[in-house]
Amino acid sequence: MSGPDLRRAAAARALDLVEPGMRLGLGTGSTAAAFVTLLGARVRTGLDIIGVPTSEATRAQAESLGIRLATLDEQPELDLTIDGADEVDPALRLIKGGGAALLREKIVACASHRMVVIADMAKRVDRLGAFPLPIEVNPFGLTATHRAVEAAVACAGCAGTVRLRRTSDGAPLVTDGGHHILDAHLGAITDPETLGAALWAVPGVVEHGLFLGIADAAILAFDRDGQADIT
Ligand code: A5P
Repeated sequence: MSGPDLRRAAAARALDLVEPGMRLGLGTGSTAAAFVTLLGARVRTGLDIIGVPTSEATRAQAESLGIRLATLDEQPELDLTIDGADEVDPALRLIKGGGAALLREKIVACASHRMVVIADMAKRVDRLGAFPLPIEVNPFGLTATHRAVEAAVACAGCAGTVRLRRTSDGAPLVTDGGHHILDAHLGAITDPETLGAALWAVPGVVEHGLFLGIADAAILAFDRDGQADIT
């Protein structure tokens, strides 16, 4: 089965968790987009929910599907957030932010009673860190912040390089919140909690993509004899 088929299977299973009247956090990325597509079809046939999008891209998609939306200020307490992830470890710790939406994703997930991750089984890892860790930073003093992030990463016992994320035309990527992203290419993160705390201590770091103690469950789709199965 292809990656899109597996992502759609995980999204379809997550749809079973949605009940009428729910206030839903809507994630960002291709797997979350598959969920929003399926949700839109249910809304068209009468499901009444309110969605809070985690990015402008998700907002545009949900609006185009006729999903009723609110801001997090209008709905500061959500029942359930469904979102993808770049990596998931056995303790349900995540790396997120490959799509540069990590700040809003974390705010929305933390405002939810429950966060459920949906992903292709390829995102399941024994140890986080093969995927570059996204770190959202304020543009002011970018060079100083970049250096401080490199020092924090080293202090947390990680080795690797930290690179400014750029768009295809070479310009620094700007997030929905007007920030930049530093990607820490670490290979392996031995102690995610220590690294997360070290990054938060750096002035200029707005948020990092380690989601620790936030996800409640993961729906992971895998290929079993040509059919999508879920764990
Ligand atoms: C967006 O910023 C990310 O956190 C995504 O949730 C993550 O990159 C997963 O994206 P895919 O579902 O496209 O793999």
